[in-house]
Amino acid sequence: MAPTPTELQRLATVISRRTGMAFPSTRLPFLTARARAVMAWAGADNWDSWLSELEASAGNDDRVGEALDEALQVHETCFFRYPGHHALLSDVVLPDSLAAGATRLRILSVGCSTGQEAYSLAMTARENLGGDAHRQVEILGVDVGRAALAAARRGVFGPLSVASVPPLYLERYFEPEGPAFTVRPELRAMVRFLRHDIRRELYLGKFDAIFCCNVCLYFTRPTKDQILTRLTAALRRGGYLFLGHAEGVTPPVDNFRAIYRPSGVVFQRIPA
Ligand SMILES: C[S@@+](CC[C@H](N)C(=O)[O-])C[C@H]1O[C@@H](n2cnc3c(N)ncnc32)[C@H](O)[C@@H]1O
Repeated sequence: MAPTPTELQRLATVISRRTGMAFPSTRLPFLTARARAVMAWAGADNWDSWLSELEASAGNDDRVGEALDEALQVHETCFFRYPGHHALLSDVVLPDSLAAGATRLRILSVGCSTGQEAYSLAMTARENLGGDAHRQVEILGVDVGRAALAAARRGVFGPLSVASVPPLYLERYFEPEGPAFTVRPELRAMVRFLRHDIRRELYLGKFDAIFCCNVCLYFTRPTKDQILTRLTAALRRGGYLFLGHAEGVTPPVDNFRAIYRPSGVVFQRIPA
């Protein structure tokens, strides 16, 4: 049975309250389909009573609510999704940070999904810094998706997934295993993954660069603002913020300066 418009509105409200996600009318069919799947899994068939249970448990660590939160995540990603970001990492972030005396750069991949963004950053760092890269660069990927993080940690990718990896990098940084490709230990040594909800405060020290791509676009305006506050606090002064092309987040000019290059734009937190 389809939810009534009122039930659909209740569903969108309860999910927004739990996750900070926005549900404009274009996303309602997606919301309905995923919620129906979770309802079926939970053995529920009445929207009204199921919604009442969800509303009563919102914010708690309940099993059904968590399954619904997870089912609504979009984990779509790929290696080297924004080539311009990698050019900026090579041409601006790495040389400028090292010239400024940094000995170890910390990079955060927010909403890292199954790990392709974090491993791509590691490949770019290694291409620039050579075999010593694991001593000079540490990359942390954070996400709320448990299954996505497990896949990221496994570091085994299918042929379609590695299609956007340049052939030379595929040869250098992956071990073919049957039809799949496993990330080699030297790359893996540079990357760690951690479960973290980016709406919460990060107690992980300061980062030199943060990549937040294709994460904020799903959130409500207050949640986007909350995330920008968290990311700003986690970025050292002089550090760099990379955003996806449709993030819907604008770093404020009193805190950031935009650095434009033909390959794209990166926002630098204004040094003290
Ligand atoms: C579309 S993927 C983006 C992957 C990668 N950053 C890219 O651009 O290819 C969005 C990821 O953000 C994660 N995500 C959503 N809400 C989050 C939150 N509150 N904290 C951390 N990660 C979150 C999702 O689980 C999903 O894996």
